[in-house]
Amino acid sequence: MKHRHELNNVMVTGGCGFIGTNFIRHLFRKPEFTGRIINVDKLTYSGNLENLTDIQETYGNGRYVFVQADICDAPAMAETLERYAVDTIVHFAAESHVDRSILGPREFVRTNIEGTFVLLEAARQRKGRPAPRFHHVSTDEVYGSLGLTGAFTETTPYDPRSPYSASKAASDHLVRAYYHTYGLPITISNCSNNYGPYQFPEKVIPVMLLNMLEGKPLPVYGDGLNVRDWLFVDDHCEAIWQILTRGRIGETYNIGGNNESTNIALVKTLCQVTARLTGKFPAQYESLITYVKDRPGHDRRYAIDASKIARELGWRPTVTDLTEGLTMTVRWYLEHPTWVERVRSGEYRAWMAKNYTRREEELSK
Ligand code: NAD
Ligand code: DAU
Repeated sequence: MKHRHELNNVMVTGGCGFIGTNFIRHLFRKPEFTGRIINVDKLTYSGNLENLTDIQETYGNGRYVFVQADICDAPAMAETLERYAVDTIVHFAAESHVDRSILGPREFVRTNIEGTFVLLEAARQRKGRPAPRFHHVSTDEVYGSLGLTGAFTETTPYDPRSPYSASKAASDHLVRAYYHTYGLPITISNCSNNYGPYQFPEKVIPVMLLNMLEGKPLPVYGDGLNVRDWLFVDDHCEAIWQILTRGRIGETYNIGGNNESTNIALVKTLCQVTARLTGKFPAQYESLITYVKDRPGHDRRYAIDASKIARELGWRPTVTDLTEGLTMTVRWYLEHPTWVERVRSGEYRAWMAKNYTRREEELSK
């Protein structure tokens, strides 16, 4: 039987963001996961501690710890690895939004490149225990933009075009370099567009959905014919689990939803799904569609060839029907009006400022 990596003390960076939150929830739902999660998050605008209030209540007595820290803070990273005897790092923390990277690339270089470097160094320099296993969560955007046909494989040359994807590409290269140079036990995954619960309303699906519910315009960039592959977030989380427990060290795995759509088709499907769930006519929402100025350097098409992870680890997406995935997503947003309201109003940030566990307090206990 193949060796399985055991996850006892798992440091999740960026656990208060969209995918990190879903990943922590996914792990605690797994009977075979009996370890502890150390969630390290700086709590930027996209980190929301309220996403995990119930997890803190249920597992806070030993199996879940929150540490507020910046991944660029080298002493804090070293101390956290040491204090919690971390054996596995799952690295989500990043500046993640392409439009923001166009407006202000500096923070992307800092967190995504320097932050990843600091974490790699902390892992490599850790004394007295084997180096932790390091899984780096990356994106299909590092491969650039496709024409009408073809799909990215793990050997597609890198060709990033936005400051965001360039910063993720740089971090991928660093992670791989630490494997080849220092033997750090790394794995990397490059995945397509995630969607599902807890996604911050700056990404296209929650932006469109919340605008629909408020009767506001639905801003479609350019001609609306850019294509993305949609991966339901829980499928992504399961793929990461499979890589962590059974993936081969030093390898990269592409993860995709096998679910391509033009943006305009996506928005129209979202209008239909939302109309069905809110008892309205789709045309009422579709009439809000407004074509707006295109994103500079807007990548035309992404598509993933996920045959390697299927072949080696038996992972395949379970949600390959966009209507099904969008129905689950819209239902979640409709059932969580308080989450939506607090994120929209910025209240979640005020709450965090009062309630988070400061790293210094946590570490001095
Ligand atoms: P997100 O923006 O929702 O969450 C990012 C999290 O990282 C937040 O909780 C934030 O507070 C935290 N963070 C940011 N800077 C930090 C720092 N310096 N130190 C510590 N924490 C910090 O992002 P997401 O959509 O959940 O994406 C997570 C990861 O997955 C990212 O690395 C992203 O590049 C990658 N990814 C995302 C998608 C997607 O569709 N969302 C697809 C492919 C890859
Ligand atoms: O492909 C993986 C990437 O997917 C991740 O690495 C990124 O972290 C994640 O943000 C996402 O990037 P995109 O740029 O593809 O996602 P976004 O939701 O911003 O946009 C999806 C598509 O929709 C894109 O073609 C731009 C378009 N769009 C977006 C917004 C916010 C619109 O037409 N209108 C909008 O208002």
